[in-house]
Amino acid sequence: MLKEEVFRIQVKKVYQLLILVLIMFAITGGGLLYYLNNPGVFDSNSKTETLLAVSIEEDEDRIANGVHVRTGLVDAEGLMLVVNNCTNCHSSKLVTQNRMSADRWNATIEWMQETQNLWDLGGNQEIIVNYLVTNYPPQKKGRRMALINIDWYELED
Ligand code: HEC
Repeated sequence: MLKEEVFRIQVKKVYQLLILVLIMFAITGGGLLYYLNNPGVFDSNSKTETLLAVSIEEDEDRIANGVHVRTGLVDAEGLMLVVNNCTNCHSSKLVTQNRMSADRWNATIEWMQETQNLWDLGGNQEIIVNYLVTNYPPQKKGRRMALINIDWYELED
């Protein structure tokens, strides 16, 4: 083999090696850049955790089908006042199952203020009582109404 040819082959080999090193640099560099921009790619749980946290936060006061999902309270004027003042100590069920007149609501609130550490509701009390009386009115009828206009029919044997 000619000396010249041997030299050319050696140069070619060095050249190929150089290209290989360059390609490897490019791959590691690219990977590193990607990792720096997405630090969480290797821990598989972190992405779903953030998503879950966000959606729970968003859902806190979600309204669906006209109902405040977290408390089950009807979505109407004054809802958030009731949610923020009346569901801290006991369930909203205790509130909604008691169907009272405005007077009795005010008396109940006063009773809670005197004995249960309920805070002064200020001007919000009227809005809250209004919400309760409007959306959870007292049920006056203790029993069903008498039947009227009925088409009776004969039973056949
Ligand atoms: C500081 C705590 C607290 C807050 C806030 C609070 N309550 Fe109460 N409430 C109580 C306690 C304690 C009871 C007694 C619970 C029991 O008997 O188990 C009670 C009982 C009730 C009862 C049942 C009363 C009865 O005669 O049995 C109703 C109705 C009621 N609360 C409505 C409300 C409404 C409406 C609000 C918002 C204005 C409210 N609560 C806010 C502490 C609170």
